[in-house]
Amino acid sequence: MTKKLYIETVGCQMNMLDSEMVVASLRKKGYELTDSTDDADTILFNTCSVREHAEHKTYSALGRLREHKKLNPHKVIGVMGCMAQKDQKLIFEKAPYVDIVVGPGQLQQIPDLIEKVKSDSGQYTAVSLGRKNGSLEQIKRSHETFDPLRDPTMRPTPFQAYLRIQIGCDKFCTYCIVPMTRGPEQGRPPKEILDEAKILADQGCKEITLVGQTVNSYKHKDDSGTTRLSGLLQQLHEIEGLQRLKFVTNYPKDMTTDLLETIRDYPKISKYIHVPLQSGSNDVLKRMKRGYTVEDYRDMMARIHDTIPGAAISSDFIVGFCGETEEEFQETVKLTKECRFKNSFIFKYSERPGTKGAEVFPDDIPDEIKKRRNNELLAVQNQISEEDNQQFLGQQVEVLVEGPSKWAKQNGDPDAQVLQLTGRTNCDRIVVFDGNQRLAGQLMKIAIYEVTSFTLLGTVVTDHQVPTLNTISV
Ligand code: SAH
Ligand code: SF4
Ligand code: F3S
Repeated sequence: MTKKLYIETVGCQMNMLDSEMVVASLRKKGYELTDSTDDADTILFNTCSVREHAEHKTYSALGRLREHKKLNPHKVIGVMGCMAQKDQKLIFEKAPYVDIVVGPGQLQQIPDLIEKVKSDSGQYTAVSLGRKNGSLEQIKRSHETFDPLRDPTMRPTPFQAYLRIQIGCDKFCTYCIVPMTRGPEQGRPPKEILDEAKILADQGCKEITLVGQTVNSYKHKDDSGTTRLSGLLQQLHEIEGLQRLKFVTNYPKDMTTDLLETIRDYPKISKYIHVPLQSGSNDVLKRMKRGYTVEDYRDMMARIHDTIPGAAISSDFIVGFCGETEEEFQETVKLTKECRFKNSFIFKYSERPGTKGAEVFPDDIPDEIKKRRNNELLAVQNQISEEDNQQFLGQQVEVLVEGPSKWAKQNGDPDAQVLQLTGRTNCDRIVVFDGNQRLAGQLMKIAIYEVTSFTLLGTVVTDHQVPTLNTISV
């Protein structure tokens, strides 16, 4: 008998990937996906704790299920992911009708736990050890992944996949909860990664994004030596069928020359580097314990530009971190103007209980000021993005076609053959153009005739003289 699973995912690519694995493991047990909580036998929330807002959203969604569960006591409700690891019992206190709470390091237990709940209506928790609750080895072992299980229907598109190369984080930035929810940094064995990439390529995957919290710190030691991100990318580059390799997120201090040279020399590797600066003030960076100075970051930027002409660099920022003065914020604005990022993700600081920041620094910047700084920095970034996109006017870019654009999905006729499509360049710029749906998954040349801060608009270049089959993205 088919059972129905409703799953809602928030958070980063790690969570997207985790949901993909959980869906794959439940499909093996006869589950099908549904997009309605009413139809579902099992409802799962894959949660994020990086900012308070993300947690509020999950708790409100859970709140809406209170009545639902009263009417349908047999439905299994599960909370998985980072908030499950962080809040544990608190989830049962706030939402006593939740049946299972499973941290991101214990997801392989979900199918069994659902069965247990169905047979005895009990409440179950499966979480990993806290950062102080055992030896490093024990803690590491309690954070397991079960990556080889994949479910193509959960991917961004059938020809794009995330591939985890690292779990956890050991950087302990003072504002960040991730080292507590995801545990110690561990690089997955290169063989496992390569095998998984080959399976993905065989399934028709053309673009793989390697994911890790600090993906360029990736390291794996075994008898044959130490593998780093550069070596891993070089091996992945050989896999037939794969056309693009991306990797997120990078840590400024670990941007080694061998990695930059690999990005330069191997054409399938995207010349796009997401390497968050977080703040342009040395004092703030110190309070954040980011481990680099503004001068270090500038040096890194210069090395990237010297080694990889045309590289696109993007950043994350936190505004209104504890004690951030107007002068310190203006240093961030100044450095943003200097660095000219392709784009930036800007967040208002959100205090996270359990972090060093919450313990030692008061969250003393009023929300209106955080909001104002967020808007100000965003306006600066948007202007830079729009100015820099001008260089593409009249140019041809190569795009991996992803499918109907957001606009087409909401407003277009789903049966139309030709509609507005979207794709990305090798340097991660979003391109929108009209084309046949069947182009999805192909590399196409697009001529750009208009740009905004977020998007390049263009038309498909049809040049029958030049075969496009063997063009590789550069
Ligand atoms: N591992 C990645 C980022 C993970 S979290 C890295 O090191 O870059 C993604 C982004 O969320 C961070 O880059 C940071 O800008 C933001 N972030 C993390 N903790 C936050 C907090 N407590 N409040 C606001 N933003 C936060
Ligand atoms: Fe969080 Fe810092 Fe680790 Fe990124 S590097 S996950 S911001 S602790
Ligand atoms: Fe959120 Fe956990 Fe990712 S806290 S950002 S889902 S690692």
